[in-house]
Amino acid sequence: MRKIKGHLEVMDNQLFIGGVPCTEIANEFGTPTYVYDLDRVLGNYRRIRDGLESQADREVAVYYAVKANFNPAILRTLASEGAYADVLSTHEVEFTLRAGYPGDRIMFTGTSVSDEVNEYMLEREITINIDSFSQMRRLAKMAPKGLEVSVRWNPGEGAGFDPKVITAGARSHGRPVKFGIEEGKVLELCAEAVKLGLRPVGLHQHIGSGWTGGDVERFLETVDLTLDMAGKMVDLLGHDLKQVDFGGGPGIPYRPDQEEFPIERYCQGICSRVAESGLGVERICVESGRYIVGDAGVLLTGVNTVERKNGNTIVGVDAGFNALIRPAFYGEYHGDEFRECYHEVVNVSRVEGPHDHCTVAGPLCETGDLLTIDRWMTLPEEGETLAVLGAGAYGYSMASVYNLQPRPAEVVVPSKRLVTRRDDMGSLTRNYAEGESSST
Ligand code: LLP
Repeated sequence: MRKIKGHLEVMDNQLFIGGVPCTEIANEFGTPTYVYDLDRVLGNYRRIRDGLESQADREVAVYYAVKANFNPAILRTLASEGAYADVLSTHEVEFTLRAGYPGDRIMFTGTSVSDEVNEYMLEREITINIDSFSQMRRLAKMAPKGLEVSVRWNPGEGAGFDPKVITAGARSHGRPVKFGIEEGKVLELCAEAVKLGLRPVGLHQHIGSGWTGGDVERFLETVDLTLDMAGKMVDLLGHDLKQVDFGGGPGIPYRPDQEEFPIERYCQGICSRVAESGLGVERICVESGRYIVGDAGVLLTGVNTVERKNGNTIVGVDAGFNALIRPAFYGEYHGDEFRECYHEVVNVSRVEGPHDHCTVAGPLCETGDLLTIDRWMTLPEEGETLAVLGAGAYGYSMASVYNLQPRPAEVVVPSKRLVTRRDDMGSLTRNYAEGESSST
């Protein structure tokens, strides 16, 4: 028995997740299918929570970023462990409430927030992180006097695995950054919020997503910046803050040669800085998504075609970018170098075998519908199943039904339980108004 990625096992050249052979899941539930190991999810969550709690001199709250994966079984598993939830839409709130998170453990950090969404959060007493002056002013008009709010600021420097997910600074690779309140305006926003009857009690940052060990020092610099800003807020407001929130972002090793994220250094760095700041803030918060679920999930996809075309080995599979969009959507040129958004692909019944340079391609009508490009890997045979690793975060949650290709099924292990059925004509047609549904 050999372990890969910390918890996946290889025995007799077969891949296992949560003790279950992947071939068994593919045979029973078909493909494409996402499989999540709930024990791994819990282990990942506990590593951050315990890492912070063992270092912190005050209360700690680990918010699970629901955007990474809203699977109800995952939400329930984390809720029963006492996790908090970070949400950005009304339906994410609905899912978390249904999964058992009490309202006071849910925090809303939205962007381009409408009045309807503000009102919904107010009705359910969900803590709101304010993203703009506009949101704050519109919220103040409908909020009860003294409503406690938190402020999302932009500490001016971001980090992330791809320019599309760097969320601090003025621009990222040419794209304007839309998030948070810039440094020079935070105190102005707080003063106006107080005048309009709101009570700022928290400061929030999220600098970007999927950063690695090499980015931790940069992240910790922004922690210092946030604590400085929190101090200025305290001076202005005349009271301590209830919380500082350092957002999400810790990455997972997608490539075989990447190192595990240094979670201890991250937790220790945050806690020691908060302690040294001398602030009386009650709680330290973080909001991780990828770190908790990313490596706990694989996407199983069936191989239907293996063929040489124009000198390329094309491996046709049933999961397109409708199922997992990350490799098609991210990846960017940095000068002449193309940085691929990489997911390891493993043949579940023949982990090691004769290799070739393989381009694994989905069933969609686009050239960019590729999971790998010329990757040196075990050459699959038609009828075999591949596992795309590191697919637990931003996989199903970003899936679509493009080309009317069904979104995959979702199964959890070790219980080997189907949680979500694959799309079919019923689910694909249910939103149509009368006269257009599947029965007509
Ligand atoms: N908090 C806020 C305010 C966020 O916007 C995000 C992610 C998180 C927390 C969680 O970040 P994490 O710990 O998962 O890095 N679709 C991309 C990732 C986009 C992340 C967006 N915001 C991907 O496929 O990698």
